[in-house]
Amino acid sequence: MSFRLQPTPVARPNRCQLFGPGSNTKLFAKMAASAADVVNLDLEDSVSPSDKDSARANVIEAINTIDWGTKTVSVRINGLDTPYWYRDVVDVLEQAGDRLDQIMIPKVGCAGDIYAVDALVTAIERAKGRTKPISFEVIIESAAGIAHVEEIAAASPRMQAMSLGAADFAASMGMQTTGIGGTQENYYMLHGEARHYSDPWHWAQTAIVAACRTHGVLPVDGPFGDFSDDEGYRAQARRSATLGMVGKWAIHPKQIALANEVFTPSEEAVAEAREILAAMKDATERGEGATVYKGRLVDIASIKQAEVIVKQSEMIAG
Ligand code: COA
Ligand code: MG
Repeated sequence: MSFRLQPTPVARPNRCQLFGPGSNTKLFAKMAASAADVVNLDLEDSVSPSDKDSARANVIEAINTIDWGTKTVSVRINGLDTPYWYRDVVDVLEQAGDRLDQIMIPKVGCAGDIYAVDALVTAIERAKGRTKPISFEVIIESAAGIAHVEEIAAASPRMQAMSLGAADFAASMGMQTTGIGGTQENYYMLHGEARHYSDPWHWAQTAIVAACRTHGVLPVDGPFGDFSDDEGYRAQARRSATLGMVGKWAIHPKQIALANEVFTPSEEAVAEAREILAAMKDATERGEGATVYKGRLVDIASIKQAEVIVKQSEMIAG
């Protein structure tokens, strides 16, 4: 056991992160009008090399002119293995106003990656007199990223969220699949003749959740590529929510409602959590540390479990 208290992550809804390419200006207003909690304006892999400069300018103009409401506004910069990333940070931070909340750093492999971006961001904030500190979110999408996941989560006080990027992760790991998230055709066990499909993303997700929870960072599930498969998206999102993740990406507007549905605790779940809290309050008043609720054990740990659901629901309700 540790005497240290687990840090609490930032209290903001992060059920759905909607992405749009920085080169596709007609999407920006639609992103702003959507029901996503976070918008990610992309300068990285959805923008072709020939469009990198214009996409940067588009994104800066969009941040400064569009009404983003209460959304968290984030820009995904290019990876540190490219010639683009420093210009992304410099131009966006020098020219985008205070409506910018966050920078997303892709393909992080070690804490030093975060340190490098932090140093540049800190210098620009001071030079330009920016008063609102920029927060960071990162994507774990390589073998090095998952191997160093805990030091990455701990790398900077700017760290607020961490996502699993299934496609690049699969490529880096040498996984034999072209699927972006979800069930994979060849990942099964045999029981007699019956195939039991399992979840190849599970261990990486739990590693991310553990690193994030240790260091007060929000764990987020990344993209689900087949935007025609609502049930596949729901299934993946429900597993992620059960494992402790707080949200999931949308790469098409169809996926926003699905993410919001799964990552908003249901009325039944909140009602049950409140009943457990009430049952434990009664038990405590009787001097008991454990009691029975609907035929099953609840004890002091159940209070913490129920509080996770109630607090998440209250935070989302605002
Ligand atoms: N944000 C907001 N609106 C979007 C959108 C997005 N990411 N993607 C599509 N739309 C809009 C379209 O403009 C269209 O609007 P309309 O009804 O007013 O014409 C509507 O949603 C339906 O779009 P659809 O025709 O089904 O899709 P598309 O062929 O235009 O685009 C993609 C499909 C996948 C290319 C597009 O959704 C996209 O670019 N997604 C984001 C990709 C990305 O950012 N990847 C990086 C992270 S992995
Ligand atoms: Mg990627």
